[in-house]
Amino acid sequence: MKKSRKNCLDEETAKIQKRYNRIAKFYDIFELFGEKVWFYKWRKKFISPLKGKILEIGIGTGKNIDFYNREAIVTGIDFSKDMLNKAQEKLEKAQKKNITLKQMDVENLEFTDNSFDYVVTSFVFCSVPKPIKGLKEIKRVLKPTGKLIMIEHILSKNTILAFIENTLNLLVKYIMGVNINRDTKQNIIDVGFIIVEDKNLALVDIFRLFRAKK
Ligand SMILES: C[S@@+](CC[C@H](N)C(=O)[O-])C[C@H]1O[C@@H](n2cnc3c(N)ncnc32)[C@H](O)[C@@H]1O
Repeated sequence: MKKSRKNCLDEETAKIQKRYNRIAKFYDIFELFGEKVWFYKWRKKFISPLKGKILEIGIGTGKNIDFYNREAIVTGIDFSKDMLNKAQEKLEKAQKKNITLKQMDVENLEFTDNSFDYVVTSFVFCSVPKPIKGLKEIKRVLKPTGKLIMIEHILSKNTILAFIENTLNLLVKYIMGVNINRDTKQNIIDVGFIIVEDKNLALVDIFRLFRAKK
């Protein structure tokens, strides 16, 4: 795993990074239920068909590694060293030479403009400290013909669900570094992406798939 040269993070980013380092050991256990019921099938459906040059943002413990096509050339980045160490273990087990891991902040990507055919995120933009900055960087490194594919949980349009998400947010953010009330769809639009697919996946409209182009 190549370590980033630019690892000077601001205070908020360093705080979230520290939380992920703290939970890295337990992350896969926390996620067991969601993985079994939903996430596994979404990873399989949306990630396995992709080919070309792919950048995965916030690869975490590497849960998508098994699903990448061996013909794809994949770079997985994450700002948490401990999450990446878990991903490295999965990568060695999977024996996939087409995947490279790097420690990097999505808000300061070290790639040249127009580099990737796809950028993939799964459950990441709930915790990126400055989501607009991160999305702008993604837009910069995507090729003009490239696609952004995001499996994310966002703030519901349903009043009761939104109330629950807003109420629990502080606690969840404190423990996990995750915001459960982000309007990620609006953020995608605000940076100038065009959403070509917006699909409700589970919990009414909380878990969503977005496909977007520049
Ligand atoms: C909830 S986990 C999801 C992990 C993985 N994508 C999955 O599907 O299980 C969010 C991940 O995003 C990473 N992350 C959050 N903000 C980031 C940033 N600014 N730059 C890079 N990685 C970030 C965290 O370290 C963490 O590994």
